[in-house]
Amino acid sequence: MPKLEVNVDHVATLRQARLGAEPDPVTAAALAELAGADGIIVHLREDRRHIQDRDLQLLRQTVKTRLNLEMAATPEMLEIAREVKPDLVTLVPEKRQELTTEGGLEVAGFIGFLRDYVQKLREGGLRVSLFVDPVNKQLDAALEVGAQWVELHTGTYAEAASPKEAQRLFEELLSAARHARSLGLRVKCGHGLNYTNIKPFRGRPEFEEFSIGHSIMARAILVGLERAVREMVELIRG
Ligand code: PXP
Repeated sequence: MPKLEVNVDHVATLRQARLGAEPDPVTAAALAELAGADGIIVHLREDRRHIQDRDLQLLRQTVKTRLNLEMAATPEMLEIAREVKPDLVTLVPEKRQELTTEGGLEVAGFIGFLRDYVQKLREGGLRVSLFVDPVNKQLDAALEVGAQWVELHTGTYAEAASPKEAQRLFEELLSAARHARSLGLRVKCGHGLNYTNIKPFRGRPEFEEFSIGHSIMARAILVGLERAVREMVELIRG
């Protein structure tokens, strides 16, 4: 059964707009779990623009499903991950100026560095996923550096200019997922997925899990978080 992990960064973005206490991403995570989410994701950024260290600590204590920590491969984040012990660490590229993560991690070009970094995470008892573009070279490299999971970047698919282009990009994701699984990697996907463009993924066992934030939170503002999560769970599971 495909799984949905809900990213609660946007709740923290709203809180940080006033530098106050509300809305609290920890409360949102609990509600998302009650509505059927299989996991909670946060991206602790170097600049702490949304999720704060306090959120991560509290989520580690309160999340009852699984906690997936997205982070850049930096020494500071290595220390935090080894201390907090999320259920999964997802390594992502990070740029200060970007509005959101802009592309997959360049794994093939940094095999030595990433093998070392992943090994340190795994020595700390952590499971590791790499957020990558749906390109075989990056998937082969993910296996080489010791990751157990890959998250295929669906952003390009989500921004396709036409239905035909979306179909082509979906086939690319499908083929990448098949390649990753043939290597023994587990496959998630995420970025830019919404209540419409998720539909082709349904019934495709190649994609085990979905990581979704913005579209769920955008809908939640209008219809409530519980309903927004439940509707996405229904779309994914059919
Ligand atoms: N996966 C990764 C690696 C991301 O960085 C993000 C954005 O935080 C997501 C998934 C979720 O993307 P969206 O908010 O567009 O659903």
